[in-house]
Amino acid sequence: MLPKSFSQYSLEDRLRYLSEKTGLSLLEINTALRAPAQNQDLAEALIEAPIGYFSLPLGLLKSLTVNGKTYCVPLVTEETSVVAALNKMAAWVGRSGHIKAETKGQTIIGQIQFATLKEPDAFQKHVEACSQQWINLANQGPAATLFKRGGGVTRIETRLIPRRKDSGIMGVLHVYLNPCEAMGANQVTQVCEFLKPPIEKQTNEMVNLCILSNLTHSKLTTSTLTLENIDLELGEKIEEASYFALCDPYRAVTHNKGIMNGIDGLVIATGNDWRAVEAGLHGYAATKDKASSYGPLATWHMKGRDLVGTFEAPLAIGSVGGATRQHPTAQFALKCLGGPSANELAQLMASVGLVQNLGALRALVSGGIIQGHMRLHIKNMTYSLKATPAQRFLVQKALLQKLNSQKHISESDAQEALEEIAKVA
Ligand code: MEV
Repeated sequence: MLPKSFSQYSLEDRLRYLSEKTGLSLLEINTALRAPAQNQDLAEALIEAPIGYFSLPLGLLKSLTVNGKTYCVPLVTEETSVVAALNKMAAWVGRSGHIKAETKGQTIIGQIQFATLKEPDAFQKHVEACSQQWINLANQGPAATLFKRGGGVTRIETRLIPRRKDSGIMGVLHVYLNPCEAMGANQVTQVCEFLKPPIEKQTNEMVNLCILSNLTHSKLTTSTLTLENIDLELGEKIEEASYFALCDPYRAVTHNKGIMNGIDGLVIATGNDWRAVEAGLHGYAATKDKASSYGPLATWHMKGRDLVGTFEAPLAIGSVGGATRQHPTAQFALKCLGGPSANELAQLMASVGLVQNLGALRALVSGGIIQGHMRLHIKNMTYSLKATPAQRFLVQKALLQKLNSQKHISESDAQEALEEIAKVA
């Protein structure tokens, strides 16, 4: 019989579970997870002059249901309690809640900057008159493949920004592009560079630079988690913890860091650009509410006896292209998820972040995270000790006892426990 907790499954049982749930064969799973990890050819294809690999553990969120579909979610993390907390919270949501997620908007943004406009009014008029022509040009040029798939450039918008260091006006064009299943960073930048000569000619203004923006207000992913009939005191404490993040940017940053523990794990596992996602999410957290400063990406409130959490942010990721296509472990992660579309994957990421946030807030308002975190951290603390496996086991036992009695432990406790055990032997 299998143990109750996934953390107590043997490696074989974990892989068997994954095979049963995803329909992937054990051979396929073992091949994907072991063989290509150190492929030098792949490293050479991904970056310039690689000298090797840096590997991180791949964990599994056993079961999470979003929009009625249940996923086994692979996650990359080095932080001890991330996957454990996710599994615990997902099981709670599975018993007494549900998650709905959606994506609003389809486009990412490319920026074309004109440092100082000679004639801002004339510039604006030229853009209004010519933008459809530029859109058509792009959709027959670098965006043609996307256009055929139902994507491509949809709109060009002018922004006039007062320059801070002099009295001039900066012009910025936002080029909106639907990248279909790709993240679209290279595509939208290519489109902007392609449009630079005709735009310069027709506006008689000079472009300074072209690049995508990682602040994608035009494509937002939301996830809403409802926990039914929750203990009232716990629900109100979680609501208050969420309100703290709303009132104080010092708390909001840490609140969002906890959300990123889950999101980054899945972003990395699927070969997506986690720096772009991080930059976009924090940019959104800082600009979402025009009246206040940096805020929380997820908030919680009580609705009768139900606790409802909502996450909203841009998650500009892809399910094809870049490392997602080249990295065999990323390909494997996408297979485990049943080959999701980019929007479906973003919705899963948002939901994982929200569940992770729930885990952090619940732990914080019910006695703090340190006890649970340190309990899981014990293995980590004893890993680098110069000890036999039997001694390490005894040190772990001693540390657990100490944690239960004095509520805190440190690396020096581990060393002292080992010295004691060595003396007895
Ligand atoms: C630790 O990695 C994440 C937390 O600090 C998040 C939070 O405080 O909400 C526990």
